[in-house]
Amino acid sequence: MGQKQEAAEYHMFPNIARWLFLIFGFPIVLTWSAYSLLDIMWLRQKRKSLKNKVVMITGASSGLGEALAHVFYKCGCKLILVSRREEELKRVRNDLTNTYQIVPTHLPVILPLDLAKIDDMKSKVLKVLLVHDGIDILINNAGVSYRGEVISTDIDVDMKVMMSNYFSQVCLTKIILPFMIKQNSGHIVGISSVQGRIAIPYRSAYAASKYSVQAWYDSARAEIFNKNIKFTIVNPGYIKTSLSMNALTGSGQVYGIMDETTVNGYEPDYVAERILEAVLKQKKEVTIAPFLVKCAIIIRTLFPSLFFWLMQKRAKKLANNR
Ligand SMILES: NC(=O)c1ccc[n+]([C@@H]2O[C@H](COP(=O)([O-])OP(=O)(O)OC[C@H]3O[C@@H](n4cnc5c(N)ncnc54)[C@H](OP(=O)(O)O)[C@@H]3O)[C@@H](O)[C@H]2O)c1
Repeated sequence: MGQKQEAAEYHMFPNIARWLFLIFGFPIVLTWSAYSLLDIMWLRQKRKSLKNKVVMITGASSGLGEALAHVFYKCGCKLILVSRREEELKRVRNDLTNTYQIVPTHLPVILPLDLAKIDDMKSKVLKVLLVHDGIDILINNAGVSYRGEVISTDIDVDMKVMMSNYFSQVCLTKIILPFMIKQNSGHIVGISSVQGRIAIPYRSAYAASKYSVQAWYDSARAEIFNKNIKFTIVNPGYIKTSLSMNALTGSGQVYGIMDETTVNGYEPDYVAERILEAVLKQKKEVTIAPFLVKCAIIIRTLFPSLFFWLMQKRAKKLANNR
């Protein structure tokens, strides 16, 4: 082969790539950009529809709940902030009113409540609902994590995690649903986790509680389809919050360690924005997680044996590192 012919072939490739881009790539990039732009404009417009809506956020004293309080307050919502630590709720309320100049200003209502104590819940929640005469959006976000072995975990810990993450959501939703059904509108958002789709070793109680939440929402959504009530389940991956610090161990002690996975997780503000978007788009389910985690969910569904083998390997590795 002569040198001239080699050079001509060498130059042909960039030309072919350019033509392929012009014929296929360019229209795709153009369509995608136009779609994204329209989506941004639509969302900006849609945010206005949230003005004056009554939004109850549980677990609003820190982490994701606090970030959610910011994004919904910015949209002009009337907030009801729920958690156990009253002082922290007051801090969040002050931050909101000092940071944003919203007209008209709705001072967020705070409701100090231990959601794991369901006997107390009904009377306190009914009282607070009178403040704004109803509720439009409930975000069931409060939760506690867990670190421990199945075999040595006290059953009281399993029950406490289940109470905080599952029964609290079910109980609060059942108190609020009749109001929404009566007004023929409402939106319930459940913060689950990717661990509500894939259970990993040493998280049994947490994963079980999040799987339960997922199942309950799927049933409720189907049953209440004709009452104009929307149900959105959210499955986030790791978020940079105090969740691992506050996690319970098998003996019921507080874990107190900031896990590396948590430190490297998503910013709570980013996840809160994605949740707001899911509410505006009335999505039934949204998974906010990296690509590999989404692949693991697909593997669990399509190739369960492979998933079980991978988790067994992971459990072995973690046990060796202990
Ligand atoms: N961080 C992550 O990596 C991650 C990933 C996926 C899903 N999630 C989910 O996101 C949600 C928020 O967690 P986070 O990451 O923001 O952790 P966080 O900072 O520890 O927040 C947990 C919130 O829940 C409240 N809470 C816990 N138990 C409660 C109870 N019995 N009654 C009332 N409030 C209670 C806490 O407030 P008080 O202490 O004041 O009561 C706190 O505001 C949880 O459901 C969690 O499972 C988190």
